[in-house]
Amino acid sequence: MGKSSMKCIHMSDTHLLPPGNLLHGIFPEENLRKCFDAIQEWHADARFVLITGDISEDGGAKSYWLLQKEALRLRIPVLALPGNHDNADWMHATFPSFSGNLDALKAGCWMPSALRTPVGFFIFLDTTLQGAAYDVFDEKRALGLQNELDSLGDAHEDIFIAFHHPPFVSGIPSMDARRLLDPEALHSVLSLYGSRVRHLFVGHLHRSLFGNWRGIPFSVARSIVHQVLPDGNRAEEGGTMRGCDESPEYNVVLIDRTDVVCHAFPFLDTPRTFAL
Ligand SMILES: [Fe+2]
Repeated sequence: MGKSSMKCIHMSDTHLLPPGNLLHGIFPEENLRKCFDAIQEWHADARFVLITGDISEDGGAKSYWLLQKEALRLRIPVLALPGNHDNADWMHATFPSFSGNLDALKAGCWMPSALRTPVGFFIFLDTTLQGAAYDVFDEKRALGLQNELDSLGDAHEDIFIAFHHPPFVSGIPSMDARRLLDPEALHSVLSLYGSRVRHLFVGHLHRSLFGNWRGIPFSVARSIVHQVLPDGNRAEEGGTMRGCDESPEYNVVLIDRTDVVCHAFPFLDTPRTFAL
């Protein structure tokens, strides 16, 4: 792709456990390996792979070591941010922090705070509250985001934001009970930048969702392990969280000066192909 365009991968909710441990009948490390293999085979021209949280199922250090080992096998930098299942301290201890230009990133897994790319400025938010199933975006975090965006000065670069918990109501009651609290604080900062905020990359829901939040486009990537059954017709009961084994996917994201296009790649499917 040209200088003012970029392909990247958005994946989410790897829920890793030490090798040999099943999660709802699935070996998460196997799915991670197959996912990275598919990315290497089909999308080796992606500039980075973003994982929007819930890297680990149990927050154990071995999950992060496993991701680092697999990320070093992949020849594309992997960027991770924490979700409510994660232990952010272990993540910081395992993955180097980064803030700077995409060209300076090498293979392996990183925990960036900001990344300058050919298509704009990416910001990676930690919205987790240790021990809580929901996330928060409080005044302190709003100030941190404001400072990061202030560093752009008059550059007028486009802005892309990645974080774990959706700020919007998804219509899945069991997940909405665990959404991002204080979305007003996030919106009050982003609204200062108007249409320069091009896209939000979000995780947590274990489903594909696309739309816009108060006019800002977003996409949510499925988990690469298990999905969450929509329970919108059970709202009056508060919703019951149920998993399902719909195909895991990663999203291929194409960005240029005017457009952001996301399409899902179900990497475990082996569809029959034929000439049309
Ligand atoms: Fe998750």
